Amino acid sequence: KDLTPIKSVYQNDFLIGNAVSAADLQGARLELLGMHHNVVTLENAMKPDAMQPTKGGFTFAGADAIVDQALAEGQKVHGHVLVWHQQTPAWMNTSNGSPLSREEALANLKSHIQTVMEHYGNKVISWDVVNEAMNDNPSNPSNWEAALRRSAWYNAIGPDYVEQAFLAAREVLDAHPEWDIKLYYNDYNEDNQNKAEAIYSMVKAINDKYALAHSGKLLIDGVGMQAHYSLNTNPDNVRLSLEKFISLGVEVSITELDIQAGTDAQLTEKQANAQGYLYAQLFKLYKAHAAHIARVTLWGLNDAASWRASASPLIFDKDLQAKPAYYGIINPDKYM
Ligand code: G3I
Repeated sequence: KDLTPIKSVYQNDFLIGNAVSAADLQGARLELLGMHHNVVTLENAMKPDAMQPTKGGFTFAGADAIVDQALAEGQKVHGHVLVWHQQTPAWMNTSNGSPLSREEALANLKSHIQTVMEHYGNKVISWDVVNEAMNDNPSNPSNWEAALRRSAWYNAIGPDYVEQAFLAAREVLDAHPEWDIKLYYNDYNEDNQNKAEAIYSMVKAINDKYALAHSGKLLIDGVGMQAHYSLNTNPDNVRLSLEKFISLGVEVSITELDIQAGTDAQLTEKQANAQGYLYAQLFKLYKAHAAHIARVTLWGLNDAASWRASASPLIFDKDLQAKPAYYGIINPDKYM
């Protein structure tokens, strides 16, 4: 209870976020969330299968309740996610197991993006417009089109589905100049230098093309580094990727940070300390680049709630007690 709030330690640097579901917005979990964080990402509730399970059948109620409560608690909200290959109903891009025509899939892509963005409006500060479009460890990363994941969206629309998604989202923002919302491309394993190069090449190509026709404006405002790491992650690779993305002239956010460290929902002292050390190294790196980082979001409040709970990847344990990882974040220099 007398812990230093993480959000105050980094108040001049970036927002501190977490991923939430409805269960996090009550009791001790809400208290912990409010103490340390000032922005939330809905872990599952805004994904395409939750927003539009059937064509035109938008189901906003579940996410609305979380968003409105989070805003009432003084949290900002990041929107996750408009276009992805998972948690997406098949009707959007597929029919009887075959890709829809480009025209039909594009119409579904646009109407999903635009209806969801119009619904939430200025309640969000940013959107993950496209998530995880890139293959892992592509062999020829500068050929980013070849490095794109052959997802159902890719198969129906082609390699320009990423650009089309951002154009549709930008159209909404252009119609609402009073909104202040950033459009993000978000991906994982971004510490892998081949993958980082492919992401860099894609964002550069899409933004350069748009800038030519729109007096230098950005189409993609930000790159999200998910940061689902492990004890083997090399912070030098994280730094190289971070600096590469910053060199695009976009903002960067750390969007889903966690560090897997064990296998049986329990860490040895050695593992817990190594995890704390890596959290410390990462936050030191983030702070050094704070001018370009908008937000650092952890992917879950505590180990038991993590999507990979058995690896104990977060900073509070199953009883919501602070782990070495928490202290690594609060005072990286002392921890290192
Ligand atoms: O809601 C159903 C429930 O009705 C059902 O009884 C239960 C049975 O398994 O499943 C529940 O849905 C689960 C959902 O989480 C909500 O708990 C899904 O099975 C499960 O697959 C889903 O996992 C989520 C995963 O994305 C799905 O891809 C994780 O919670 C979520 O943390 C994870 O988040 C992703 C990001 O969105 C994108 N980046 C990677 C990250 C980690 O995988």
